[in-house]
Amino acid sequence: MQRMGKKIYSEHWEKETESLNNQGIYQTLSKITPKKNTIEIGCGTGVTSRYLASDRKVLSIDNNEHLIEKTSQTLKDMESPPTIIHADIFELTSEILSSIRDFSPIVVTGWFIGSHADDIDKRTDPSLAIYKKPKLYRESIEDIIVGKIGAIDTVEWVHLANRGEISALASEQQIIQATVDEYNARVFSPNGFEVEEVKLLKWDRNRSNFMYVNSPNQNYKGEHTIPVFISILAKRKKT
Ligand SMILES: C[S@@+](CC[C@H](N)C(=O)[O-])C[C@H]1O[C@@H](n2cnc3c(N)ncnc32)[C@H](O)[C@@H]1O
Repeated sequence: MQRMGKKIYSEHWEKETESLNNQGIYQTLSKITPKKNTIEIGCGTGVTSRYLASDRKVLSIDNNEHLIEKTSQTLKDMESPPTIIHADIFELTSEILSSIRDFSPIVVTGWFIGSHADDIDKRTDPSLAIYKKPKLYRESIEDIIVGKIGAIDTVEWVHLANRGEISALASEQQIIQATVDEYNARVFSPNGFEVEEVKLLKWDRNRSNFMYVNSPNQNYKGEHTIPVFISILAKRKKT
């Protein structure tokens, strides 16, 4: 992993956002997200916030002031721009939680969760191999999204999006079922949610220059893999 601080990360992510946006992924994801009050975890350069805020109220939370500055620029001409809170999701204070509650969120999104090396090192075990850290960092944030923000009783939906490499030998249905099973077991079922829909979306990785770190997947054993975006929409279970 290239060692990136906050500012360099924000510049790299800005370029990657352009590539993802040109592939239409943000537009597709925002159509999948239910059109209700939405908390966005990680606004990046604000391109995602802008799509979401075009037809719903949005409150975005991010801990990188350089990306928040880019977001303010992206949103400056909007009539009803999202509210932005500068905060670290690992350190949600009672004030921030009450601002989130006052917003009456129905949906929480966490799209392409990741950060620069300083953040990742701060939140993961120093003895872990570098290639394992970004995945663990993402999973820890998913735990907070579903466990802490999902505990607010107005929240009905969680919409996550990841990127990944899937086996070229597995069927789309097998990948979707494996994702449903993994997410339900690890994070949704223990918190009273369940996966409603998983979608695999085409990712033209040749258009990405971002330094992604891939965790080797034991299941693939050197098979040819295909890059995809994975949209995971979960709903609160009826009691
Ligand atoms: C890879 S970018 C994705 C941004 C946007 N969701 C998108 O899809 O373009 C991850 C975002 O999450 C933010 N982030 C990472 N760790 C965070 C944390 N601990 N607390 C709040 N925001 C965080 C980063 O600053 C960045 O804006």
